[in-house]
Order: sequence, then C-alpha cells, then structure tokens
Amino acid sequence: MTKKVAVGDKFLLFVKGGSFFMSHDSDLNNDLGYFDKMAHWSFDEFGIHSECLTDWDLYELLKARVTPDSKILDLGTAGGEKIFEFFPDCAEILGTDFSSAMIGTARKNLEKSGKKNVSFKVMYNLHMDVPDDYFDIVVARHTCTVASQIYRCLKPGGHLLLRGVDKYDCWSLKMEFGGGQGWNDPVPVSISDYEQVLAAGFTEVELVPIHMKDYFKSREDFKGFLEVVPILDDVSIGGQELNEELLDRYIAKNTVGGRIVLIRNYYGISARKPLG
Ligand SMILES: C[S@@+](CC[C@H](N)C(=O)[O-])C[C@H]1O[C@@H](n2cnc3c(N)ncnc32)[C@H](O)[C@@H]1O
Repeated sequence: MTKKVAVGDKFLLFVKGGSFFMSHDSDLNNDLGYFDKMAHWSFDEFGIHSECLTDWDLYELLKARVTPDSKILDLGTAGGEKIFEFFPDCAEILGTDFSSAMIGTARKNLEKSGKKNVSFKVMYNLHMDVPDDYFDIVVARHTCTVASQIYRCLKPGGHLLLRGVDKYDCWSLKMEFGGGQGWNDPVPVSISDYEQVLAAGFTEVELVPIHMKDYFKSREDFKGFLEVVPILDDVSIGGQELNEELLDRYIAKNTVGGRIVLIRNYYGISARKPLG
C-alpha cells in the first residue's frame, strides 16, 4: 500500500478477493479501485483445495438463527454470491458494498436468480445508511466493520455473525518475504474486532479462531494466487514484482505430498444485541 488514511482510530479491514487485510496504513480510495476491478473475477481458476480444522461455520450459524420473517443485512456482499449460494430463504435480504461495480455484478446475479426477497445497494461500512432497529441478523464476512453502527441497525435480540482474516494468516509466507498484510498491526484484528463488539454493547459474544490449510497443485497456481490476493500486499496490488527466489524458498519448505501448503488463520465472532 502506498498512502495513508486515518479513519479515527478505527482499524481498517480491507478485503480483496478471497482474502482480506486489515491495516492502519491502508488507502481507502486505492482499495475501492481494487474492488471495482475485482467485480467480475473468480478464484476458481487456482484450483485451491481447502481443509478446515475448526468447527465454526458462519452459514450453519446463520441457518440456526434465521426464521421465515427474518431481515438480513450482508455487509461487503461483493457480487452477492454468498447470498445466492448459502443464505437461507427469509423475508428480506439486503446486500451492500462500497464498490458500485460489485453492486452492478450483484444486480446481474439477482436478475439471473429471479429472487424477489433480495436487493442490493452501494454503502460504505464505515458510514452505514440503514434504518435503526431494523435487521434480525447482520452478516459481515471478510469485510471491514464498525460494531457500534451494526449494533444500531439490529433489532433488540438481533444477531451479528462476522468472519475475518487474522493478523497471523499466512505468517510463514509473510516471514519469508519480510512483510505482508497485518505485519505491522500492533494488535491482531480479531482482538480489536472482539473488543469493539463488546464495547458496542453486544452480549453472548464469542470469538473463535478458524484454522485452515489451502493446498495448491502447482507453482503457477500459487504464484497467480499471490499476485491477486493481497497477502503480500504490494505484489497483489501490482506495485512490485513477486520475488521468485523467495517464492521458491517458501515452496521448498512448504510442499507436502506434492502440494504447496498455505496455513490460513481466520476468526469468527458471533454476538447478540440484548433484548432490551
Ligand atoms: C473479499 S470480499 C468478501 C465478499 C463476501 N462477503 C464474501 O464473503 O465472499 C470483500 C468485499 O467487501 C467490500 N468492502 C471492502 N471495504 C469496504 C467498505 N469500507 N465498505 C463497504 N464495502 C467494503 C469489497 O468491495 C468487497 O466486495
């Protein structure tokens, strides 16, 4: 990342593609440009095989909380893919994203789906423009959040389900390259989010570390992935060439059974607005 943007003392969590980063020194406008470009992009081409070692599934938790009357808000929805694939049917689902290109893609996906209970709008998560006490469930997966604003738009008794990428995500890779997303964060984003959710007044707050392994079949797939996902941020944003020597060193140390392994560290937070 290049320039600096401070939004109060809030940690900014910027999500790019299948991963995300959270940083104090991120440039909001650069990131919006990045997401606009990513609006028609798919990660399927890297043939990643993922193995989850932790039993925390956002969509299982969502299913357990939803009723036919539920109103759900999905923050940082991108093209709404997760809504169409994983969200249970209910009265109303609103997907929001700060990228108008993403919302354009989401509306095309909506047309194809024929769903009448889903809508999309452009919205910054740091300046949420939705009614107070309105939603039964807010989902925020791999995007930035302001817990106090989420709290306001939830009905009493409403639920927050949040998943993010933690500071120590891909840490051995970042160590090999001497930096990457979250490298200089004084506090892991999981902890700052957890503290914010508690401070906002939520109850039943749980923070769960999610441990995953991503496997890549080839050096080419792995390199292609690193070039678009902002784990080594300068590289994925196109500011620097990927250092081939360091890449080979990582691959030599982290190939198991012919596949390149990347250890992922995510986190899940579930919480509830008190009934009153
Ligand atoms: C990696 S995608 C995650 C998409 C989806 N939630 C998922 O889990 O697949 C992150 C999305 O968050 C959006 N985003 C990032 N920062 C945002 C912000 N400050 N306000 C609103 N949307 C934001 C991006 O445009 C992008 O579409």
